[in-house]
Amino acid sequence: MKRPEHGGRLREAARRLGLPVDAWLDLSTGISPWPYPLPPVPEEVWRRLPEEDDGLDDVIRAAFGRPALAVPGTQAAISRLPALLPEVHRVLVPHPSYGEHAHAWRAHRLVRCALCAEAIEARLDEVDALVLVHPNNPTGTRFPVQALRAWHQRLAARGGWLIVDEAFLDPGEAGSLVAETGEPGLVVLRSLGKFWGLAGLRFGLVFAAAPLREQLAAWLDPWAVSHPARWAARLALADSAWQERQRARLAAASRALAATLEEAGLRVSGLTSLFAWVETPRAAALAAALERRALLVRCFDDPPGLRFGLPADAAQTARLRAALLEAMAETTETRR
Ligand SMILES: Cc1ncc(COP(=O)(O)O)c(C=O)c1O
Repeated sequence: MKRPEHGGRLREAARRLGLPVDAWLDLSTGISPWPYPLPPVPEEVWRRLPEEDDGLDDVIRAAFGRPALAVPGTQAAISRLPALLPEVHRVLVPHPSYGEHAHAWRAHRLVRCALCAEAIEARLDEVDALVLVHPNNPTGTRFPVQALRAWHQRLAARGGWLIVDEAFLDPGEAGSLVAETGEPGLVVLRSLGKFWGLAGLRFGLVFAAAPLREQLAAWLDPWAVSHPARWAARLALADSAWQERQRARLAAASRALAATLEEAGLRVSGLTSLFAWVETPRAAALAAALERRALLVRCFDDPPGLRFGLPADAAQTARLRAALLEAMAETTETRR
């Protein structure tokens, strides 16, 4: 199975189109345009190895109400979970979703279904685990938390697992299963890469009952999470006043993004605080037309659609609006 593609490949696009990197507006990721403002890293944090009793665990508990294992990006957990759950043979991964999950389970019996409650419920008794991205990337699909709980109960009752990737759920936002992660058969992943805008830091959290956290910890290398990453995460997770401001700013920006897309004649099929999803058969043509205007978005082909990250300010919004109007006109003409 081919490694999944990701947004944010700006240098590659710049080379392909022959346009310098700094000429581009990159809306191809769901990373906040406003990262958590970290102070300069103390010299000591660079120099010394990280220690586990640095207070990070207390900050995580205060922020989420549950203990978690810190990992070098949730990706590290996504890749290792299959080896940690030997009792899981058949895995349900609804489609479309973040490609790394299906990739991680590629050696297992992978059951695919449409990303809707009816399809999931129809297949649930055939599998030992269900993997959900919630809200989903790229479609923004959400399920009622009661449905998630019911699926967890159904799986856990026969020793199965529900794995929920909450990378795109804002801290404090409704719909999280973190509070239940003391129960068997449940894993919840959280990332500092999206809402906090710190994707380059490589820091994620795995919420699960103690035995799984301990097993995963034993699989990680010593000092797998760097000292600067632990230091930065401690500050970012503890700063609830900044999180409050960030929540309001992202909510306003995602509403504005949806309005810009609708004004240009696109129908927004899904929306999170960090991206908008537009399902359209014109996806590939529109993405190419936008690229010719040095505007990078994430294009998907199954189903065809575009994912737009948030513009950072009025100038970027104006640029998106202008590029979209031209791209829409151009792709309509091409189709005639
Ligand atoms: C749904 C989802 N989960 C996990 C990740 C990986 O995040 P991290 O930076 O924490 O490894 C991504 C990255 O794009 C993602 O989209």
